[in-house]
This record gives sequence, C-alpha cells and structure tokens, in this order.
Amino acid sequence: MHTTDFITLYIDGQPVSVSQGMTVAAALAHHYSLGITRRSVSGQLRAPVCGMGVCHECRVMIDGQRVLACQTLCRDGMRIDTDINPTPTTILVTEA
Ligand code: FES
Repeated sequence: MHTTDFITLYIDGQPVSVSQGMTVAAALAHHYSLGITRRSVSGQLRAPVCGMGVCHECRVMIDGQRVLACQTLCRDGMRIDTDINPTPTTILVTEA
C-alpha cells in the first residue's frame, strides 16, 4: 500500500490517518477501541451493531450532519464528532 492510499480526517478534533475506502464505523473502531459513536439520551455509549444500515446504532455527526457510520466512506478532511464525554479511554468497564 502506498502513502497516497491514506487520507486524514478528524475525530473529535484529533487528526487520524485512515485507509481510503474505509467506513467511518471502521475508522471509529480503529480510533476508539470499542467503536463508540455517541451517547444515547439516557447517557449510554452506543456503537455499531449490524454493520449494514439496519439498527441505526452507529449514528454519528459528520460535518454537521447525522449519518450512519457503517454506510459512510471516509473522505479526506471529514470532521467526525461523537458526543462522548469523558473519552473512552477514561471509561471503566464493569462485569455484570
Ligand atoms: S451498525 Fe447498524 S446501522 Fe450502522
């Protein structure tokens, strides 16, 4: 793979280099290990489930528009905004 096969986009303001042709869901999974896209109205973290445009769990803001991350290919300069706060690296996972 050549370096021209990579593009740069921004996830929550951080520049991220990804392969051309990658979906936004894959880019989020690469950047945030759980692939988290947003928080629900009750505050729960949401992430892609079906990967084929059915469940809508992967909704995320891209350049000000709410889209399905699993159905959207990454573009150079794209701005992806999750409303994750705190960031996933500070979230504690507990067993049920
Ligand atoms: S993961 Fe189900 S619609 Fe995107």
